[in-house]
Amino acid sequence: MVRLPVQCLLWGCFLTAVRPEPPTSCREDQYLTNSRCCNLCPPGQKLVSDCTEVTDTECLPCSKGEFLATSNREKYCHQHRYCNPNLGLQIQREGTSKTDTICTCDEGQHCTSHTCESCTPHSLCLPGFGVKQIATGVSDTICEPCSVGFFSNVSSAFEKCHPWTSCESKGLVEQHAGTNKTDVVCGESWRTGPGSRLGRPLKLNMFQAKLTFRDP
Ligand SMILES: *[C@@H]1O[C@H](CO)[C@@H](O)[C@H](O)[C@H]1NC(C)=O
Ligand SMILES: *[C@@H]1O[C@H](CO)[C@@H](O)[C@H](O)[C@H]1NC(C)=O
Repeated sequence: MVRLPVQCLLWGCFLTAVRPEPPTSCREDQYLTNSRCCNLCPPGQKLVSDCTEVTDTECLPCSKGEFLATSNREKYCHQHRYCNPNLGLQIQREGTSKTDTICTCDEGQHCTSHTCESCTPHSLCLPGFGVKQIATGVSDTICEPCSVGFFSNVSSAFEKCHPWTSCESKGLVEQHAGTNKTDVVCGESWRTGPGSRLGRPLKLNMFQAKLTFRDP
């Protein structure tokens, strides 16, 4: 108990005597070890042995399938991540000695997170909504409501909102107004003037006639 302070004192005197200025911090590309500043290993290489009075830091390149992204003093390189096909993952970019492998999702799916640990199917835009932006391997579909004059009658990951049919340009009249889920229904004019409400498609009349005929 009594010897401890004395020892510390002696040790302190010893250090001060032998190394007048032991470094307490090193440059950004160096690290402190054994009271000495050693160069860090560059990205893509791991540490084999610290520098000494007479030798520089000894580094070795990472093996195939491994990487180290930054200047470091790591004894081991990191393993490239594996894009597991059983999780719907595939390689987007193969890793190098300095970069990790980047995974993405198979066709029709996208990553559930920034790190792409798993995949989920692209969302569909419901009727009344159109695809604003088609999904990619890393981002989901973006839908938008169909504005007036447009419609979507399908659930789809690709279909945009379609413009209503212009009956006028077909020489027909509008029979049913369009909605955001249905197209305009055009009918033949009965030559009673443009926009006549009497206009009815011939087919519909025949269909109705059939129904009437079959009615017991
Ligand atoms: C579609 O139109 C209906 C009726 O006007 C409206 O209630 C609904 O919010 C619209 N849907 C979208 C996606 O805009
Ligand atoms: C959607 O609308 C188009 C154009 O009016 C039509 O041809 C198609 O049959 C409709 N599909 C469904 C599923 O309603």
